[in-house]
Amino acid sequence: MKKEFTKQEIRQVKRSFARCFIKEDLILRFLNIIVESHPEIAPHFKNTDFDQIKLLLRQGINCTIMYAEGVFAGEFCIEELRVSHDRKHMAINPKYYPYWIRSLVQAISELDPEYTDELGELWAEVVSPAIYYMANGY
Ligand code: HEM
Repeated sequence: MKKEFTKQEIRQVKRSFARCFIKEDLILRFLNIIVESHPEIAPHFKNTDFDQIKLLLRQGINCTIMYAEGVFAGEFCIEELRVSHDRKHMAINPKYYPYWIRSLVQAISELDPEYTDELGELWAEVVSPAIYYMANGY
């Protein structure tokens, strides 16, 4: 897994993220995709109010980017998510993390008008260090 990213790569992902909110809400689309992505994932979200959680999730995705960037705010935030998703709290089994990445990239491919497969791969690479860290804290 790639651990270091150039400023240019981080900028590309941040710009793509911003473009995804121009027409529609990326987060709502992402949540709908992830819930459908695996039969065991849907029950985790059965009591979730998507409108209430969407701002937190937008912030959470930002944190994964900041984590890859190596800034302190990103580390701090991913540390909290690592705990909230661990076996003692929401108990999100690490086997679901690949579905999270795939669902996010799928939603981005639909909403970023400048999407390319290469950009999708870069997105997957950039969110991976945070996900690896969260999964290891299960
Ligand atoms: C890097 C990956 C992930 C990030 C950044 C992330 C981010 C977040 C954030 C910011 C929240 C709201 C704050 C909190 O409750 O701590 C949240 C809640 C939640 N996440 Fe994740 N998450 C990730 C992976 C997953 C995966 C793979 C699942 C799979 C089932 C999942 C299921 C949930 C659930 C069920 C909630 C609670 C929703 C509610 O409040 O009803 N998350 N996540």
